[in-house]
Amino acid sequence: MLKISPSILSCDFANLESECAQMKEAGAEMLHIDVMDGHFVPNLTLGAPIVKCLRPKNDLFFDVHLMISEPLRYIDDFAAAGSDLITFHVESESDVGETIAKIKSHGIKAALSVKPGTPAEAVFPYLDLLDMVLVMTVEPGFGGQKFMGDMIPKIEAIRKKAEELGLSLDIEVDGGIDAGTAPLVTAAGANVLVAGSAIFGKPDRTAAVRALRAAGES
Ligand code: DX5
Ligand code: ZN
Repeated sequence: MLKISPSILSCDFANLESECAQMKEAGAEMLHIDVMDGHFVPNLTLGAPIVKCLRPKNDLFFDVHLMISEPLRYIDDFAAAGSDLITFHVESESDVGETIAKIKSHGIKAALSVKPGTPAEAVFPYLDLLDMVLVMTVEPGFGGQKFMGDMIPKIEAIRKKAEELGLSLDIEVDGGIDAGTAPLVTAAGANVLVAGSAIFGKPDRTAAVRALRAAGES
């Protein structure tokens, strides 16, 4: 099933509650929450206190994307804040197996992400432990960048491996996803679409979510 996860990085943070409420009304399944530490990526965004404040205001599935150097140190905080799924990077400094186990100890879903320069094979040893793999289709750090078409074979390779292992893994893509690129990534095997500027950058967000879903299903 195709799922749409609007990235709040492109929303109006002065109106976070209403911006996120609009995503629920627009029919999105998830909210993609980008956490950056100014070290793993050259940008700073938000932390667990914001997630905690938003939690009682919105019942969408919270898809938290940690772009931080030491995710293991912060899993407890983000889980307690109300995350439904936590994604961290295989390139981070934390032990991958330990971090997955820590996320799962909270009874929530775990995902691993790969930057554009990291091969698909980096996540293969962990596939049976994961609920989702996030394939970055831009260099993480900023919204509004151009989709990298050369990530398509990586999506295909992860889908193929998951099928070989008999796993019903979600594959999420993040960066430059819009109605033009959505059909390319879903054809390759992705089923969770993150979009920031292609949703929050549009005056009619409901139409934007609908257009993205239609494109992804085409
Ligand atoms: C980038 C973030 C993305 C970003 C996507 O590092 O992980 O989630 O918000 O923005 P768009 O959809 O505008 O490329
Ligand atoms: Zn993201």
